[in-house]
Amino acid sequence: MVKRLILLTYFSLCVGSLNAVLYDCVSGLPVNSTQLRIYEQRNNTEICTVDVKPCDPEEWQRVDGSCNNLKYPSRGTHRTPSSRVLPLDFSPNYEPRKASDGGDLELVRKLRTDLLSSGKVSEMKLTQLVSYYLLFSIADVVAIHDITNYVMKITYCCTPEGKKDYRCTPIKVPVHDPVHRFSGISCMNLTRPQTFQTFGCLDNGTDFVRVAFQTPLFDLSNTYNFKPGFSDRIRTFKNGLLKIETAENGYLFPESDPNSTECYLNQRPQETRCHKYVLNGVLGSNFLNIHFYRQHNKIAEELGKLNPSWNDDRLFFTARNINIAISLQILLYELLPIILGKKNLIRDGIICEDGGFRDVYDENIPPQMSDEYVYVNRWYHVIQEATMKFYDKDGHFVKTYPMVNATAHTGLFAIDDNFVYITQGSFRQPSGAFDFVIDSDMGNRILDGAQRASDVGSSDLAKGRYFGFPPYIKYKEFCTKRSYKEFSDLKDSFSPERLYRIMQNYKSPSDIDLMGGLWGEKYVKGGMVPETLYCLVVEQLKRTIASDRYWFERSKRPHAFTKDQLKAIRKVTIASVLCWVGDHVTEIQPKSFRTISSKNPLVKCSSSRIGKLDLSAWKDSETCKQ
Ligand SMILES: *[C@@H]1O[C@H](CO)[C@@H](O)[C@H](O)[C@H]1NC(C)=O
Ligand SMILES: *[C@@H]1O[C@H](CO)[C@@H](O)[C@H](O)[C@H]1NC(C)=O
Ligand SMILES: *[C@@H]1O[C@H](CO)[C@@H](O)[C@H](O)[C@H]1NC(C)=O
Ligand SMILES: *[C@@H]1O[C@H](CO)[C@@H](O)[C@H](O)[C@H]1NC(C)=O
Ligand SMILES: *[C@@H]1O[C@H](CO)[C@@H](O)[C@H](O)[C@H]1NC(C)=O
Ligand SMILES: *[C@@H]1O[C@H](CO)[C@@H](O)[C@H](O)[C@H]1NC(C)=O
Repeated sequence: MVKRLILLTYFSLCVGSLNAVLYDCVSGLPVNSTQLRIYEQRNNTEICTVDVKPCDPEEWQRVDGSCNNLKYPSRGTHRTPSSRVLPLDFSPNYEPRKASDGGDLELVRKLRTDLLSSGKVSEMKLTQLVSYYLLFSIADVVAIHDITNYVMKITYCCTPEGKKDYRCTPIKVPVHDPVHRFSGISCMNLTRPQTFQTFGCLDNGTDFVRVAFQTPLFDLSNTYNFKPGFSDRIRTFKNGLLKIETAENGYLFPESDPNSTECYLNQRPQETRCHKYVLNGVLGSNFLNIHFYRQHNKIAEELGKLNPSWNDDRLFFTARNINIAISLQILLYELLPIILGKKNLIRDGIICEDGGFRDVYDENIPPQMSDEYVYVNRWYHVIQEATMKFYDKDGHFVKTYPMVNATAHTGLFAIDDNFVYITQGSFRQPSGAFDFVIDSDMGNRILDGAQRASDVGSSDLAKGRYFGFPPYIKYKEFCTKRSYKEFSDLKDSFSPERLYRIMQNYKSPSDIDLMGGLWGEKYVKGGMVPETLYCLVVEQLKRTIASDRYWFERSKRPHAFTKDQLKAIRKVTIASVLCWVGDHVTEIQPKSFRTISSKNPLVKCSSSRIGKLDLSAWKDSETCKQ
């Protein structure tokens, strides 16, 4: 079973087709016969290459991401290498860099427990939906295969055998750890990040290049399945619809594979549901994926009524085009302005004020995600409120439920009214605060059910070192164009207390880990996130907007929206989505990322304050056009 899961995760279906060209994932060029022979000898052709059927410049956006960039057709598919904002910084043999005095950097678990407090602080202005949506959007561009690796595959990293395995990078727990001095646990499992070297696509000893297993595009990879050929498995090929099932409790979910081992926290025999082709994973992204999956069908159904002559393909791709646009409209125009600052985003060209089109496409920028972007998003682990509050459909509190128990636990959604409870809780419960306090569950038992002890913050720090990120101040220099030599140079970006805390743990500013710095840094003016996080996120979003040929705000792209269609997309909010496809959501606050208040009260879904997707702009004036 485990083997099957791993195969499913790592290998795409190789659909041989006429005229398809085999591209080398690493170089992004057609693979030459010399290279192909090497891959064949190593038996890794399937993982190091990707088959791309010839591109038609006018075709719909492909689900597998190919042909996004016409010069480099394989860039945009899964296994496109990630990019780097700053060059690698490693010790020999790709071991973590040393401290400036030549010694080892402080233990990550010691840093985590010193730099982040553990406990509970709430952000009374924002709801749980904020962290759910952030997770959903990041899961679109990064896969959790590193976790799968040490939870299911290389499970001996804390044993003597692990000491001999290069792939093992266990986390050492200090003797005086505030928690584990009582538990007796002295080591937590972790494995080295997987790279093209891991799979033999690059020779050992060459520069670390990370493999991204999702498409490096915001294209709802997990809703539609990004693996070449896999989206065919979720389509009904009738009326543009996806396969959807009515679960035990009467609610709608993607197709289930009761034999799947992915949902390892399902409590059998009652809980058997586990998505077959749609991501299971952590709660926030699983929750929203289900909603966007359902929403696809709602859109396709309505489009079909408006345009009875449209065929399956046209309905499917139009609905997907709209669904992706909605997901980005909510991310860029509703969520990010709250946490990154609306004025900042307008100034930096991430959102446009006038609501119109923008065409900043540059085909010389390949679609890629930076390792830094993916990494700094881990900072949001501090805003996770891990004690979920369940509410019934009328808004009465039912019970609490630990979020870590809901990871890889899709079966939970399909029994009783749990999915209703989680949905109601998502917009009624406040989020965790944007601060330096981490929920104890995140810091001690994030992988409960799979590991005895696990600390997401320590893993985040450790991964930063094994990714070879240069020290925090190098990023600070990149962002501000100033130089930082002494701790005192950082005094504008840290409170005296946070700087003092940093100095207790790092001997020199050039020792500070990227994440360690973010944990203490002041927030960007007008926003709620560390300055350097803001900078690295904006760096990525700018490139994404310029490199995605199918970006929803372009007027010059295949099947571009009309002005009226884009206007219709702009009216949709997360509240509209939950009202439309949420179970028993009959009232909600219009700004659902913000908590319920007198200015943002619960209103009926039918209220004019809740934006609705009006598809009339998609009605074809010419009848019977295919
Ligand atoms: C074949 O491709 C590899 C990797 O892209 C490249 O390093 C090599 O120079 C190419 N060889 C020939 C003969 O073109
Ligand atoms: C080659 O890899 C495939 C999986 O991609 C595996 O099924 C097969 O057994 C391997 N063959 C050899 C000779 O190792
Ligand atoms: C790289 O090293 C790993 C073990 O560390 C080994 O399994 C793999 O075959 C090596 N790859 C190549 C291409 O030599
Ligand atoms: C699950 O496994 C059982 C036993 O191997 C098999 O009979 C059944 O058909 C499988 N179900 C699905 C949906 O694959
Ligand atoms: C959560 O998981 C832990 C351990 O895996 C278990 O002891 C506990 O009972 C679970 N809690 C709930 C509410 O299911
Ligand atoms: C590390 O993994 C092993 C094997 O799965 C497990 O027995 C051990 O409890 C894990 N360590 C911790 C601290 O969870």
